[in-house]
Amino acid sequence: MSDRYLDLVGSGLGRTLAARLGLPRPTPLRRYALGQPVLEGPAVLAGVGAAPLLTRVRDALEHAGVQIQDTAAASDEGAARLGAVVVDASAARTVGDLEAVRAALVPTLKRLGSCARVLLLGTPPAQLTAPAEAATQHALEGIVRSVAKELREGATANLLLVAEGGETALAAPVRFFLSARSAYVDGQVLQVGPGAPQGAVDLDHPLAGKVAVVTGAARGIGAAIAEVLARDGATVLCADVPAAGDSLAAVANRVGGTALQLDITTPDAGERIAAHVAQRHGQRLDVIVHNAGITRDKLLVNTDADRWASVLAVNLEAQLRINDVLLDATREGALADGGRVISVSSTSGIAGNRGQASYAASKAGVIGLVQALSAQVAGRGITVNAVAPGFIETEMTARMPLGTREVGRRINSLGQGGSPVDVAEAIAFLAQPDNAGVTGQVLRVCGQSMIGA
Ligand SMILES: NC(=O)c1ccc[n+]([C@@H]2O[C@H](COP(=O)([O-])OP(=O)(O)OC[C@H]3O[C@@H](n4cnc5c(N)ncnc54)[C@H](O)[C@@H]3O)[C@@H](O)[C@H]2O)c1
Repeated sequence: MSDRYLDLVGSGLGRTLAARLGLPRPTPLRRYALGQPVLEGPAVLAGVGAAPLLTRVRDALEHAGVQIQDTAAASDEGAARLGAVVVDASAARTVGDLEAVRAALVPTLKRLGSCARVLLLGTPPAQLTAPAEAATQHALEGIVRSVAKELREGATANLLLVAEGGETALAAPVRFFLSARSAYVDGQVLQVGPGAPQGAVDLDHPLAGKVAVVTGAARGIGAAIAEVLARDGATVLCADVPAAGDSLAAVANRVGGTALQLDITTPDAGERIAAHVAQRHGQRLDVIVHNAGITRDKLLVNTDADRWASVLAVNLEAQLRINDVLLDATREGALADGGRVISVSSTSGIAGNRGQASYAASKAGVIGLVQALSAQVAGRGITVNAVAPGFIETEMTARMPLGTREVGRRINSLGQGGSPVDVAEAIAFLAQPDNAGVTGQVLRVCGQSMIGA
C-alpha cells in the first residue's frame, strides 16, 4: 500500500514545502537486500566498567564485515557519519555508572548517519537482587526508549538484556538490531538467555536446508514471511484457506515452496501439516510460523457469541491445537529438536484497542502461549516467540477509515507505517538456528508506536 504523504515529502517540491511549513518529514527506511553490508558507516563500541560483552560484539561485527571505529575518532568533527553505536552497559551497578552511558552517547549521536543504529547492552534487572543495581539496569530502558524518540532520519535505538550464559548466543541478535532487517523495530527491549547456537552461520542464507510452514501465506504479511524465509534459504510450505487457493499457489510458486489448502480451524489441521511435510519434504519440520489471523471488530457490548468464537478459534485455539500435534516428537513431519515456533501477535494484544476485545484477547492469549510453551520445550532446544506488529501497510489497514489510518501511521517514532517485510524480517531472525538464546519473548515491530507503549 502506498503512503502518499511519505512519497510527497520525499519529492523535491514536497520536501521544500514541508520544511517551510514545519511539517514532519519521515525518512524512507533502509531495508535489507541480499548482499547488502550490515551498516552504511562504521560502528563505535563503548562500554561501562569492564564491559564484558564487547569482545563478543566486536567478533560478531567483524565476522559480519562491519568496520569498527574507536570512540576518540568518532567525536572528531570531520569523521564520517556513523552506522551504529553499541554501548555495553551490562556491568553498570550504580546510578553514577550511568554517566558513562551518557558520555558515550553524546558525541556519537551527533554523528549518526541516516537509518543508523543505537544498541545498548544490559543485564536483566530481575537477575539483580540489590535495589540500586536493579534500578541502574532498569534505567537503561528509560534511556533507550527516550533516545529512540529523539533520533531522526530513520535511526533506531534498542536494548538487549543479556542474561547469565546469554553471551554465547549474542551474535544473531546483535546482527539483527544493527542491520536493515530491523528497520521498523524501535525502542524495544529483548532478552537473550543461554542457548547453544547450531553450527556455523551462512550470513546470506541463515535458513539454508530448513523446512518452514507459514499459515495465512496467500497474501499480506504471510506472503512476505514466505518470501523472506525462502530468500534466507528455507523451503516453505505455504498454507491458507481453499478460497485463497489461487493466490496461495502463486506465492508457493514464487518462493519455490509447496501449497497446502487448509483451514487451520479444522480439528486435524496439525495432522495435515505433518502429513504434508512427511510426503513432500521428506524430513522433519524446522520452523512453524502461526501467521493466519482475522478481525471481527465490534464493541464488546455488540459482540455475539459466534463473532467472539470465530476470532478466538482462528487466532488462538488453532495455534494451540496445531502446536500439540507438531510438538509430538514421535510423529513423522513434526517439529525437530532445535526447531522454532513463532506466533504473530499484535500491539492490540499488549495495549487493547477499542472495538477489538475479541482480537486483543486472542493476541494477548498468544503472548501467554509463547511464555508457557517456551519453558516446556526448552529442553529440546526449541525456541518459542511472538512478534507483535503495530501499524503495517496491508489490505487490512488500507480498509481503515482515512483518519484512523493516518493516526495509526504517524503516531510512532519513525512517522510511518511498517511494511509486511519488516514483520517478516523479525520472524526470519527469530527462526535463525544460531539465534538460540531468545525464547518466550514478544518482539514488537511497530516503529515504537505510542499504542501499547
Ligand atoms: N496488518 C497489520 O497492521 C497487523 C497488525 C498487527 C497484527 N497483524 C497480524 O498479522 C497477521 C497477518 O495479517 P495481514 O494484515 O497480513 O492479514 P490478511 O487478512 O491480509 O491475511 C491473513 C491471511 O490469513 C488467512 N486466514 C484467515 N483465516 C484462516 C484460516 N482459518 N485458515 C488458514 N488461513 C486463514 C487469510 O486467508 C489471509 O490470507 C494476522 O495474524 C494479523 O492479526 C496484522
